Amino acid sequence: MHKKLICPAIFGERIEIYRSIDSTQKRVRDIFNDNPVESIVFADHQTAGVGRRGREWVSPEGGLYFSLLLNPEGKKEIFSMLALLWALRSLKEEGMEDIGWKWPNDIMYDERKAGGIITELLPGGWIALGIGINAGLNENQFPGSLDDTVSVIDIDRKNFVDRFLRYIDGYKGKDGLSENDIGFLDPLHILKDSLIRAGDDEGMVSGIAPDGSLEIVTSGRKKNITTGPVFKVDNKDFTDINIIAIDIGNTSTRVGYIENGDITASDIPTKPVEDFPQRLISGIRDKYGDIIGKIDGIAVSCVVSLLETKVLERLKKELHPYVVNVTCELSTGLTLKVKEPAQLGADRICNAVAVNRLYGGDTVLVDLGTANTYDVVSRTGEYIGGVIAPGIDSMKEALVRRADKLKDHEFTMPDTSIGDETVISQNIGLFHTLNGQIKSIINAIKRDWQREFRIIFTGGGISMVDKEILANYTTDRDITIKGLAVIFKLQNKLQNKLDKK
Ligand code: BTN
Repeated sequence: MHKKLICPAIFGERIEIYRSIDSTQKRVRDIFNDNPVESIVFADHQTAGVGRRGREWVSPEGGLYFSLLLNPEGKKEIFSMLALLWALRSLKEEGMEDIGWKWPNDIMYDERKAGGIITELLPGGWIALGIGINAGLNENQFPGSLDDTVSVIDIDRKNFVDRFLRYIDGYKGKDGLSENDIGFLDPLHILKDSLIRAGDDEGMVSGIAPDGSLEIVTSGRKKNITTGPVFKVDNKDFTDINIIAIDIGNTSTRVGYIENGDITASDIPTKPVEDFPQRLISGIRDKYGDIIGKIDGIAVSCVVSLLETKVLERLKKELHPYVVNVTCELSTGLTLKVKEPAQLGADRICNAVAVNRLYGGDTVLVDLGTANTYDVVSRTGEYIGGVIAPGIDSMKEALVRRADKLKDHEFTMPDTSIGDETVISQNIGLFHTLNGQIKSIINAIKRDWQREFRIIFTGGGISMVDKEILANYTTDRDITIKGLAVIFKLQNKLQNKLDKK
């Protein structure tokens, strides 16, 4: 049945509403050629919808398709990103909490495309802006070939348009995206912190710039990508294994499940160590009980010597017979160029392996935990050593233990530079000790080696790092889990080779 068409309220000298048209975008271009006045064209169905890069925009009946012809103030080149921002804001306001986007201007829901925006710059500063959203549609209205790429969302089309047009109406022109705009867009960006390929460039997405370009970090340098397309580089090293990976740290343990190259991970406290093996096993059973029989095995990195043997025995006995435990004796494909490899924590081996395999050399991996470790993988792909410094909790504990009047407290990010309360003063001190440590160590490495390094942050302490520092570098919370997966896969391959002999 035909759905009620939208009644626009606040935009355009010329308003056209169609039940069906070839393309609203083509229609506003025709209006422009004929008589350029602010216009808006809606349709309930398009027979020849156009997408970016000359692609077809499949537009089944009942979706949301509209185009605007307008001549806004400000820099025209950022208008496409602004339109995306307003569309996302409007969708959030309509209750679409999980909405995301993908650079340059795809609206994403459930990891698939739910909408798209096209912006065409016309002579005299005019813009033809087209928006298509799979709202109120059914997935089976799309051809089977789009099954994996398209998602539909359930919103009130009229309310959405109303909200969106209010943003357009209130726009007074800008030269670039504001901090506030970027702060809204950044966390919703599905490519953030992902490895992508754009033309010949491959790098980690660190954010978007005020001009709307995509910022990536490649070989330790920032680069701005201005034209698409961009592709996410798969975790190609472990797309074909299905495992549970456990990274046991002194304070916290991360348990990851890897399937088809995707990682889901969560943390449990390592302390108290007495009942840790039991808590770990039951936690895994609760979460992954129904798939545990289907996995290829378990990979473990443990830096708590007291726990290692017990945990390994119980995992083998109670969950899966095949458990790979990372030590320096294991074949990891990485040369450990240090005097005493046996002293290197298993987590640092995993990190270095993942860095080398997934990011490449000339990289410093900063793992912020009970200890802050800085591990360096050279450009020739060898682990050449690192730095071990106190982590923020260790600093806090030392301070509280040694000074009678200082109280144990929860660390929170300070928002002033001088504290008028003991706890706030302690937090400010801890914040600067941590961030000063990070800056100083990174600078010393760069200075000594006379070159730029790619810097990757990981570990639970990331949340205490100065945002300005993080803005320049990559974060990868699952790097140890990825290292475990790469090492597991390698053991599997080696085992298969041996079996064939
Ligand atoms: C994209 O490729 O992501 C952009 C798609 C834009 C589609 C919309 S639907 C309304 C307007 N009319 C069209 O023919 N295209 C745009």
